Amino acid sequence: MTGIDKIGVIGLGAMGAGIAQLAVEAGYETVGREVTAELGDRAAARIGHFLTRKVEKGLLGQADRDAAVARLSVTTELSGLQDCDLVIEAIVEELAPKQQLFAELDRIVGDHAVLATNTSALSVTEIASATGRPERVVGMHFFNPAPLMPLVEIVRAELSGAAAVDAAAGVGERMGKKVVRCHDTPGFVVNRILIPLLNDCVKVLDEARVTPEALDTAMQNGAGWPMGPCTLVDLVGIDVHVHASEALYEKVREPRMAPPPRLVAMKNAGLLGRKSGRGFYRYDA
Ligand code: 3HC
Repeated sequence: MTGIDKIGVIGLGAMGAGIAQLAVEAGYETVGREVTAELGDRAAARIGHFLTRKVEKGLLGQADRDAAVARLSVTTELSGLQDCDLVIEAIVEELAPKQQLFAELDRIVGDHAVLATNTSALSVTEIASATGRPERVVGMHFFNPAPLMPLVEIVRAELSGAAAVDAAAGVGERMGKKVVRCHDTPGFVVNRILIPLLNDCVKVLDEARVTPEALDTAMQNGAGWPMGPCTLVDLVGIDVHVHASEALYEKVREPRMAPPPRLVAMKNAGLLGRKSGRGFYRYDA
């Protein structure tokens, strides 16, 4: 028993929409919050689309699909999340906006509610410090694409209480995820390893003078990666990866953590990967 019936998800971009999809599929009443009604409706349509594909592929019954869709509502108001038992934040990867949001949530949701952040590389402890309930704040770090990637890291911040950690882990399990619990260290488990590795890959593009296609072919066929590093960074988002690299570098100070200049230049030019239509590769609108 997690004591969690209703889940709020804040920010319905690629990660938030994927998390909301997992929540409705797991049977939770779910309310998603976006800044505009248009963005909220677009995310709901995306979730509906992926659930329809599951029906078409025989992975989900039509009635179960319809019930899952009916469990989702979207709002532009934070107050729409006031009766949630768990709120998962998936907004921009910057500390100040996250702290401001958690301070507001602390005032809005019930005292029992668990507040979780999906941050990639920021300190959960620092986010929790913006609230008066740090014992109810944890990290729930999903991987992109959230509905497909089996892992969720459950991150215990300095003051996280065991009940909140257990509740978040219980939700992860009910979503069908493999749950790994860890402490609030920079990059947690996976990103501490994956981010410098992807930065190395980008540097090898110039060092070995290979194209993104060639590098991806090399890593898929020589190292068994399911997708090549350039395809992966495009999927994650160049901006998300650069932010996460900067956050890690700030904490760990190892040169491999710092974003390679080539990626920073791409971010500054608006080449953000799949979501902007162009990164290492070009994508249809
Ligand atoms: N949401 C929901 N469903 C989705 C989806 C999404 N975002 N994307 C795809 N799907 C569904 C689609 O319905 C698709 O079927 P369709 O094309 O017939 O409609 C179905 O999933 C299967 O898609 P694919 O055929 O593309 O699936 P693959 O078997 O090729 O696997 C993959 C895709 C799981 C993404 C695999 O390529 C993989 O494991 N890649 C590595 C991803 C990875 O490493 N992610 C971690 C990134 S790091 C991170 O997230 C940390 C963060 O903090 C930055």
